[in-house]
Amino acid sequence: MQTQILPPNKENIALAAKLLQNGEIVGIPTETVYGLAASALNGEAVKKIFSAKGRPQDNPLISHISSMDMLPMIAQNIPSACYTLANAFWPGPLTMVLPRSADVADEVCAGLDTAAVRMPSHKAALDIIAAAGVPLAAPSANLSGSPSPTTARHVMDDMDGRIPLIIDGGACTVGVESTVISLCTQAPLLLRPGHITKEQLEAALGCEVLLSQAVLHMLPQGAQAPSPGMKYKHYAPKAEVILIKGSLNAYNKYVNAHAQSGTYRLCYLGEENLSAVPCVTYGHENSSDEQANRLFSALRELDAKNAKTVYARCPEESGEFMAVYNRILRSAAFNIVEV
Ligand code: TXA
Ligand code: MG
Repeated sequence: MQTQILPPNKENIALAAKLLQNGEIVGIPTETVYGLAASALNGEAVKKIFSAKGRPQDNPLISHISSMDMLPMIAQNIPSACYTLANAFWPGPLTMVLPRSADVADEVCAGLDTAAVRMPSHKAALDIIAAAGVPLAAPSANLSGSPSPTTARHVMDDMDGRIPLIIDGGACTVGVESTVISLCTQAPLLLRPGHITKEQLEAALGCEVLLSQAVLHMLPQGAQAPSPGMKYKHYAPKAEVILIKGSLNAYNKYVNAHAQSGTYRLCYLGEENLSAVPCVTYGHENSSDEQANRLFSALRELDAKNAKTVYARCPEESGEFMAVYNRILRSAAFNIVEV
C-alpha cells in the first residue's frame, strides 16, 4: 500500500473523511501526538488499527469527538463531573473514562464496560472528525512500544505502507499524550498524567483526584492494571535508557565515568558543553512544556544516531513535570540510578 502525506486543506480533509467512512484508517494530527484513526463505531475498521500498530488486543482506545453531540455515541449515564471537566478543558488534552454506550465498537473498549473519550483542540483533527460525522478511535500512531509520533514524518517512519493517508498538521504543540482521568471510580482517579495536571483537575472539580499507583511506580507482578496500557512496555527507543537522579554535577561525573562507544547523554538545553559525551537535548531544565514537546522526538533522534546506552537527566516527579517523568520512566523501563 502507498502511504500519502497531505496537508489539511478542504479537499484532503474530505478525502480523509471518505476513507474513514469506508472503514479505512488514517494518520491524523492532534495537539498532543499524532493518532491512528478509525470510526469508533466500526469494529472491523478498529481491528485494522491494532494490526497496523501491532497493539495488544486487550489495550482499549480513546475515542475522539468534535462536539458534545457525539458524546452519547461513546458514553452513557454521564456523571456531572464530566460536564464540569469538559467545560474547563475541552477541546484540549484531557481524556475521560466513562460508562460505555452500546454504539461504540467492542474492539474500542477491549472488553471493558467503560470507554475513554476526548475532544482534541487541533483544528485539523476537529475538521476530520466533523467531516467523517462519527467519533474516531485513535491511539498514538506509532508502532506499539515505540515513542509516540509528534510529526507527520514520525508517523511515516512507523506506518509507511501500512496505511493509505497521513494528514500533516505540523509538529504537535503539547508533545505527550493526553491526561487520562477515570470518572468510573469512587473518587476521580488519574490514570495517565499529561499537560493538564492533577492540581488543575482538582481545582476544576473542587475535590481530591487520586493518583493511580502505576503512574509513578512499576506495577507489582500479577497486579491488575486500572488502565490496560500501564502493563505494556512504552515509549522505548532501541537504546537502553537509564535515568540518572541527582545534581547536574553528579550526573556529569557519573556519565563521564561510565561512557563507552555508543553512549549518549539525554540532557537539558544549555548543558551540551559540560561533558565530551555526545548528547541530545530535551528542553530547558525549568520548562515542563519544552521537555514534553521535545521528549519523543529526542528519543527518535537517539535511535537515528544508533545510540546504545542513554543516560538521561531526570525531571521532577510532581506537578507539571509528572507527565514527562512518567514517559521517561517508562522509556527507561523503570531503570533509575541515584547519584
Ligand atoms: O493524546 C492522546 O490521548 C493520544 C492522541 C492520539 O489523542 N492518544 C493516545 O491513545 O495516547 P493511546 O491508545 O496510545 O492511549 C490510550 C490510553 C491507554 O493507556 C489505554 O490503556 C487507556 O488510554 N484507556 C483507553 N480506554 C480505557 C478505559 N476504558 N479504561 C482505562 N483506560 C483506558
Ligand atoms: Mg500510545
